[in-house]
Amino acid sequence: MKIKKISAIQIFDSRGYPTIETEIELENGVRASGIVPSGASTGQYEALELRDGDPVQWRGKSVFKAIGHVEGEISELVCGRDVDDQRGIDEAMIALDGTENKARLGANAILSVSMAAASAAAKAKGEALYTTLGLGKGILLPLPEIQIIGGGAHANWRTDIQDFMIIAKAAKTYREALEITFNIYHAAGDILHEQGRRFGLADEGGYWPELTSNEEAFELIISAIERAGYTPGVDASISLDIAASDLYDHSNHSYCFPSENRSFTSAEFSDLIIDWCQRYPVISIEDPAADTDWEAWIKIKTSIGRKVQIIGDDLFTTNLGRIRKGIEKNAANAVLIKLNQIGTVSETLDAIRLTQDAGWLPVISARSGETEDTFIAHLAVATNAGQLKVGSFARSERMAKWNEVLRIERHLGERSQFKGAEIYQTIHPKKT
Ligand code: PGA
Ligand code: ZN
Repeated sequence: MKIKKISAIQIFDSRGYPTIETEIELENGVRASGIVPSGASTGQYEALELRDGDPVQWRGKSVFKAIGHVEGEISELVCGRDVDDQRGIDEAMIALDGTENKARLGANAILSVSMAAASAAAKAKGEALYTTLGLGKGILLPLPEIQIIGGGAHANWRTDIQDFMIIAKAAKTYREALEITFNIYHAAGDILHEQGRRFGLADEGGYWPELTSNEEAFELIISAIERAGYTPGVDASISLDIAASDLYDHSNHSYCFPSENRSFTSAEFSDLIIDWCQRYPVISIEDPAADTDWEAWIKIKTSIGRKVQIIGDDLFTTNLGRIRKGIEKNAANAVLIKLNQIGTVSETLDAIRLTQDAGWLPVISARSGETEDTFIAHLAVATNAGQLKVGSFARSERMAKWNEVLRIERHLGERSQFKGAEIYQTIHPKKT
C-alpha cells in the first residue's frame, strides 16, 4: 500500500516541552502516527534532536524546523513509496539527511516518519504493530524494570543516582510482575508519607523524597520490599541507573556526587559501585561508568558481570558501531535501546539483533520526556527482547506502556511467553 500524505504538528511531551507528531495517510485512507520522546540525561553520541533554538519562542525548544523537514523534503522523498518497505524508507531518509548523526533534518523529524510508517503498515494489514514489526515471531512479554525513586537530572539532583528501580524477580507472569511492583511502589510511598519525606514525583513518576545519602535510598527500597511482604533479592531485586556520564568530569577523569559533595577517582568510583552491588540485592546496573571511561566498564564487568546485568545506555546510544566496540571489549552484557538515540526503526531493530546475536540482552526503554505513544511496548514484544524500562508505576505516559503490554498479553493469549528473571540465564549461564 502506497503512502499518500505526510503531515506533522507540534505537540507536547510529559514535561510539557514541544515534540513532533507525524501522521501518515495511505492511499486506502488508513492513517497512523508516530510521536517522538525526548531525553534529559542524553548521551553525547546520540543522534541530533533538532530544536529551533530561538530563546524568545518556546524557550528555544520548538520543533518547527523539524516539522518543515517532515512536510517538505521528507514528504517529497517518501510519498508514493510502499509503506511495507520500512528499510527502504529509513535508508532513503538517512541518505537524504547525509550526516553521521541526522543533524541536518533532525533525528526527531526522521524518527517520527519512521514510527508512523511502521504503525501505518500494521494498520493497513489489520494487524497489531508487534505482529508486523516482529514478522509474527514476537511472543515474549517483557520483565518490567520499574522506578521507585527518581534522582539525578530528573529530580534536581535530590539523589546523585538517577534511577532506583526494582525488578520483580519472582514473577511468573507479566501481570504478576506488575502486581509485585504495585505493592512495592505503594509501600515505598506509605513509608515516605509516615516519615514526612514524600515531596513529589520525579520526571519518570518515581518518588522524589528528601534523602541525605544514596545509601538511604537503598535502605528505603529494601524496607518497601519487606513492607509489601516480599523478600529482597528473592522476590524483588534492585536495579540502578547510575547515569555516570552526568557525574563525570572529563577534564580530570573524576566523578562527583553533587548532593553529597563528594568526588572520586575513576578507580574509587568503580570500587564504590562494585561494593554497592555486593552489599545490596542489586540485579542490574546501567551506566555505572562514563561513556568514555572504557577501563572502568571493563573492570566492573570483569568483577560483577557474572551475577549482575550491566547495561550500556549513554555508552552505546543504540548505535551499531558503539555496540560492536562494546562487544569487542567485553565491557557490558546488555544494551539499553532507545529509538530516538539512533533515529529510525530499522537501525533500532538492527541494534537489538546485534545485541542478541552477541548473547547480550536488549532492554527496550522510554525517555524521561515521554508521550502517550505506546510504540516501545510493541517493540519489546516484537523482538522478544525480554525486558522493558518505562520509568515508574505512575503517570499516564508511563502507564500507557505497561497497560499496552497487558493488552498484548490478552491478544496473544496462549501463545504468549514470559521468561521473567530466567532471561538472565542468557548472560549468567548456570554452571553444569
Ligand atoms: P533520559 O533518561 O531519557 O533523560 O536519557 C533515561 C535514562 O537515562 O535511561
Ligand atoms: Zn540511562
